[in-house]
Amino acid sequence: QTPARRLLHSKRPLLIAHRGNSSRAPENTLPAFRSALEVGVDMVELDYHHSADGVPFCFHDKDLKRTTNAKDILGQGDLEIAETSTRNLLRLDGGRWYSSDFAGTAVPTLAESLDTIQPGAMTLIERKAGDAATLVDLLRQKKLTGDVIVQAFDWDYLADVRRLSPETVVVCLGKEAIDERTFALVAATGAEGIGWRARDLTASAIDAAHAKGLRVFAWTVDDPAEATRLLDAGLDGLITNRPAELRELVAKD
Ligand code: G3P
Ligand code: CA
Repeated sequence: QTPARRLLHSKRPLLIAHRGNSSRAPENTLPAFRSALEVGVDMVELDYHHSADGVPFCFHDKDLKRTTNAKDILGQGDLEIAETSTRNLLRLDGGRWYSSDFAGTAVPTLAESLDTIQPGAMTLIERKAGDAATLVDLLRQKKLTGDVIVQAFDWDYLADVRRLSPETVVVCLGKEAIDERTFALVAATGAEGIGWRARDLTASAIDAAHAKGLRVFAWTVDDPAEATRLLDAGLDGLITNRPAELRELVAKD
């Protein structure tokens, strides 16, 4: 039993900060991760892409426009992260777009994000782009293969993670209706849970997933009424931009 598997199977639902405490600090930055730890979340969700030279960075969008000052620094706002070097990514401000209070905040590498989060919570790593081998190498280097959960919409990638590192827990992201075919595809990846769009999750879908031995996370739930509906239906993990506000709905040990 790894620490991540123990957490996945805890008796109470998990509180998971979406992109860090992203209602209080710029998403996918170290201040957002630290703020989530201060709330006392179980997990911090983050997104990653590779830089042009193959270094995983925490970042949500495909291009740098919305959340960085790439236009000022690199002369081009709509550059894709995958075509930008590590050297240039490290020059960017990833906080000022959110508020001048966060000016000077870097776009963090996945490695430094794990160093920030793991001492206080577990990381729910969402792969947006990048190969499984690079992630598994990083987790091995940091001795974290059993201490994080990896999720993705690309289920072939998750199967690769599991092949390379069978002890690593993976969760299949998805949306829309859940049926027997969904469960067959999930089972083929070796996933131990599903992370589903909240509005598509019915009580009967949650029951059906549980009957297959899967845990169920929902994204992204900021409305207390929606959180209550899902928790009453037996949800196992609430992925939210507002962990401080929803914290009391999830009983602590
Ligand atoms: O946790 C899953 C959820 O984050 C997927 O959507 O666009 O916020 O990465 P997105
Ligand atoms: Ca995400």
